[in-house]
Amino acid sequence: MTRTLVIGATGTVGRPVVAQLAATGAPVRALTRNPAAAQLPPGVEVVQGDLTVPATLERSLDRVDAVFLVWTAPRTALDAALDVIAARARRVVFLSAPIKTPHPFFQQPNPARDLMLAIEQRIERSALEWTFLRPGIFAANARHFWGPQIRAGDLVRWPYLSAPTAPIDERDIASVAVRTLTEEGHGGKEYVLTGPQSLTQREQIAIIGDAIARPLRIEEITPDEARQGLLASMPAPAISMLFNAWAAALGQPAHVTATVADVTAAPARTFAQWAADNAASFTS
Ligand SMILES: NC(=O)c1ccc[n+]([C@@H]2O[C@H](COP(=O)([O-])OP(=O)(O)OC[C@H]3O[C@@H](n4cnc5c(N)ncnc54)[C@H](OP(=O)(O)O)[C@@H]3O)[C@@H](O)[C@H]2O)c1
Repeated sequence: MTRTLVIGATGTVGRPVVAQLAATGAPVRALTRNPAAAQLPPGVEVVQGDLTVPATLERSLDRVDAVFLVWTAPRTALDAALDVIAARARRVVFLSAPIKTPHPFFQQPNPARDLMLAIEQRIERSALEWTFLRPGIFAANARHFWGPQIRAGDLVRWPYLSAPTAPIDERDIASVAVRTLTEEGHGGKEYVLTGPQSLTQREQIAIIGDAIARPLRIEEITPDEARQGLLASMPAPAISMLFNAWAAALGQPAHVTATVADVTAAPARTFAQWAADNAASFTS
């Protein structure tokens, strides 16, 4: 049975990947820099490791066939980490982004795109069998975007309210990841993953209001005003990346794919489903 190492196991996508892999009964090893804080399900083997410390990866990869790779570490650690992974594992599934999809939302220049491309090229040059997952914007971002304002009251002030996106539920990204990690036939595939609907940001906020049974007042503000408010919780380059993408998204529907359903044989969850299942994050 395939033994999988999940790198990024405590993160937004890694956590459901670990849970869903564990539910299949396959051996799962979860890598984290801090096992004491990991809070992963019983039955999961939790190991201490760091992408910037290759020796910790080496021991984590003992008897591992497949690696699920989320990369949020510095770029300088890339070559050494990939050398170790390629020497020990057979297959990697990398959480990338839709950097090759010709929709303006995905085509704004930014350092994160450059890093994704560099990682993909490094993986392609290795002997690993690879699959690249290319999810669009995560539904889970809504917790960071609007959670603070919704928990504080009924008014949400936000820029680019008419910008449409197709947020994907992190559990659906995980379901595709589990298929590609555990089944044959996904080598060399690049899966562009989105939610099932194009929704403006205004519509997404209203859907959260429905999920928590509180009508929200939604007010458009300028990007400059929004930037000032967000700087306390988000790095400036991440804010610029989002604002440029939303500005470019205006005026056409979001890019929507059927890939979640094609790979998993189950329909992608709607944003309304995500909001209903995550309502507590907006109320407590
Ligand atoms: N948000 C979006 O809308 C979106 C859309 C498309 C693609 N993406 C891509 O998705 C990725 C982020 O995924 P995510 O949201 O699931 O991540 P996340 O929630 O930020 O979690 C990152 C994980 O990486 C681990 N980590 C950080 N530094 C590490 C290191 N040096 N060594 C080992 N592990 C380390 C952390 O684990 P510990 O702290 O436990 O070690 C954590 O579990 C990014 O590459 C992003 O570009 C995001």
